[in-house]
Amino acid sequence: PAEAIIFSMIQPTGKFHLGNYLGATRIWKDMCSLKKADQQLFFGVADLHAITVPKPNPKEFYRYRREAIASILASGIDPSKSSVFYQSSLPEHSQLYWLLCNFSPLGSLNRMAQWKSKANIQEVLDDQEKIANVNLGLFAYPVLQAADILLYKATHVPVGDDQSPHLELTRTIATRFNKMYKTKYFPIPKTLLAPTQKILSLTNPAKKMSKSDPDQIGVLYLNDSPELISKKIKRAITDFTSDHMYYDEENRPGVSNLITIISGIQRKSIQEVEKDIEHFKNFKDFKNYVTEIIIEELKEPRLEFEKLINEPQYLDSVIEEGRVKAHEVVSKNISEIMEIMGY
Ligand code: ADP
Ligand code: NA
Repeated sequence: PAEAIIFSMIQPTGKFHLGNYLGATRIWKDMCSLKKADQQLFFGVADLHAITVPKPNPKEFYRYRREAIASILASGIDPSKSSVFYQSSLPEHSQLYWLLCNFSPLGSLNRMAQWKSKANIQEVLDDQEKIANVNLGLFAYPVLQAADILLYKATHVPVGDDQSPHLELTRTIATRFNKMYKTKYFPIPKTLLAPTQKILSLTNPAKKMSKSDPDQIGVLYLNDSPELISKKIKRAITDFTSDHMYYDEENRPGVSNLITIISGIQRKSIQEVEKDIEHFKNFKDFKNYVTEIIIEELKEPRLEFEKLINEPQYLDSVIEEGRVKAHEVVSKNISEIMEIMGY
């Protein structure tokens, strides 16, 4: 029978926010609820990827890794229907990464935007000195991502649109491997794009909402209290070009971002949300409306997070169970892969 193997991960580089929830973990939750018998779900914490940050701090890192597990579970992911695990607990990820390095063209890696933006490089040719300081790990990040996906022979990968180029590289690597060894071993994985648009920073809608943003007033965290959510929305940038609330990404990015948030939470189109809010005649009423919707949506994740983070033994048991389930799959696959290669 044709199996669907659904695989996705998130980095433990900071506290989870509304963008991670709408763009990733809420979708994982839905996949658990709708899981069919022929589907396997793997949701990991990409802690090997997270070590590519500029200044890794062991204490903080340890905390973020555990918070990531608690956040995934608090978002509603059912660990009995999926495997929730740390990437680093399965050495097969690193093992396949090395093997796949040999099917990864430098030119394709060089074209990736992420390492350049993280190393603050705009124009590669003008920045030789900066390039000399870029770590191989950051540069090779998309190869590890390919290894993660292919290790499970994943058929579907739910991601945000920023990750599309990396998925493309994964397909390139899988194709090169299959061709080299005259095999169909690796399925060519399909991207499942998140239905929600990208959520932007509340204080600077030119940037996406991100874990690594030092401006915490611009980011809505999964465990923010109702008071804090209310304060952040009050401070959110809007623009007083008109008293009517409508979506205009280009000229009114702040208001549009709040509309995107409502549309994401309520699973409505932008047009439907515009209809719902057309009666508001001032920003205060509109912002109260947005605030209520966000507080309501994050209520359960917040309470669950607070509960889970104080249950370290339960968290340990979930990750151990996830590791064991994942290990069954990856130990078999890595043996098969190495056998194909002649090891
Ligand atoms: P961050 O930038 O917050 O560290 P990650 O790079 O770890 O986020 O992304 C984890 C997942 O969350 C990905 O699937 C990504 O597409 C999604 N995601 C991250 N930020 C946003 C956002 N602002 N809006 C929508 N989805 C997002
Ligand atoms: Na990130």
